[in-house]
Amino acid sequence: MKKVRKAVIPVAGLGTRFLPATKAQPKEMLAVIDKPIIQYIVEEAVAAGIEQIIFVTSSTKRAIEDHFDRNFELEYRLRQKNKQSEIKDILRISDMANFVYVRQKTPKGLGHAIFTARELVGDEPFAVMLGDDIIDARVPAIKQLINIYNKYEDIVVGVTRVPKKETHKYGIIDPIVIDENSSEIRRIIEKPSPGKAPSNLAVSGRYVLTPEIFDILAKGKKGSGGEIQLTDALAEHVRRKAGYACLYKGDYYDCGNKLEFIKATITYALKRKEFRGPLKKYLKQL
Ligand code: UTP
Repeated sequence: MKKVRKAVIPVAGLGTRFLPATKAQPKEMLAVIDKPIIQYIVEEAVAAGIEQIIFVTSSTKRAIEDHFDRNFELEYRLRQKNKQSEIKDILRISDMANFVYVRQKTPKGLGHAIFTARELVGDEPFAVMLGDDIIDARVPAIKQLINIYNKYEDIVVGVTRVPKKETHKYGIIDPIVIDENSSEIRRIIEKPSPGKAPSNLAVSGRYVLTPEIFDILAKGKKGSGGEIQLTDALAEHVRRKAGYACLYKGDYYDCGNKLEFIKATITYALKRKEFRGPLKKYLKQL
């Protein structure tokens, strides 16, 4: 069995939900406290044993490449000021994994972004982690998916529970429950109304895929919003063959959404010793 060694992180979207903050900077570089969203995701991948990160990027996302590269001038200035701990921190970022980049020339949708990475992925299973979705978990969420992949050797989709009345915003799975964390997928339905949703398990942010998905994506079939949707390709793979879902243990934050970004910021700030006391006091006062 081939090991999951590579993660594709698409970061070529326009980030329209976060305008005007994303007019001149990538949304994936917005900081939750003092770390860009994208770094939380790369750290999750590395903690799960991923060796190579494939960013699907675009011309307006250069800051992401710079963030994961060396910055000799900054290192030099920090050395002059004897800021040892800061130097260590920034050097660690570029050493975390082997980073490679491919450009998606037009943002034609998530499915198209993944298809753009096909040559870099090659003939092996791979993880997909959305560039704006942070999952706060004890065991890295993508590791939880990889464990299920290793059992069944077919695609695994990360799912989280959403309120019943919000099923129309997500891809929803129809599960055949295996145990408390895993299900086989009977079908995936894109954005069903609450009355038609077979569950409240929403496809969310993490996937382990096999190269078979590229054959489906190659057709370039447009779905909702006129974009090439990954969920449509997953639904077809499940129809043709099979697929599994991992109800990962952890809290999901879609940081491309302003309210979720604020919630992630508060959650992570409350975990930090230096902010916990004063922030709690401030929130109570508000
Ligand atoms: P989103 O749908 O959340 O990103 O895609 P978006 O299109 O940038 O956001 P809005 O809706 O306009 O606010 C999830 C991830 O997939 C990437 C995005 O950069 C994001 O990290 N993506 C999306 C691509 O790389 N290419 C695309 O064509 C679409």
